[in-house]
Amino acid sequence: MKVIKYVFQPHGDDRGQLVALEEFKDIPFSIKRVYYMYDTGEGVRRGFHAHKSLEQILICIHGSCKILLDNGTEKKVVPLEKPYEGLYVGNSMWREMYDFSSDAVLMVLASELYDEADYIRNYDEFLEFNGIKKGE
Ligand code: TYD
Repeated sequence: MKVIKYVFQPHGDDRGQLVALEEFKDIPFSIKRVYYMYDTGEGVRRGFHAHKSLEQILICIHGSCKILLDNGTEKKVVPLEKPYEGLYVGNSMWREMYDFSSDAVLMVLASELYDEADYIRNYDEFLEFNGIKKGE
């Protein structure tokens, strides 16, 4: 499984750092929605779903967390701990987010508006969606 991590260009000077993200330039899709998670409780694990068509870029803009990516046959854990790094998560990819530091802010840029119908929340359905037979 190929993990696509973006390293964004920080514009640093003696005042500090600034990262700018533009659709189709730094981000490979049109940004229709932004959401972020913070104050995540210790030991919390969230996500546990895939999307039928949504594409996302995950950026831990403060603190750190880990992302588990699972394409149904292979799993990869990607630590996110830099505000200038983004993890691309395409459709048909099961994801779980965990190990949030108490100060973590995980921001997500999404290619579509919120649509519950795009979610696959059942792992067996996810395998089926990807054409993988259970136990393979
Ligand atoms: P949820 O899907 O449980 O988050 P996660 O996948 O990280 O565990 O979302 C939590 C709540 O927020 C749920 O009530 C749906 C709502 N929500 C929106 O209204 N818009 C959004 O864009 C997202 C991602 C969630």
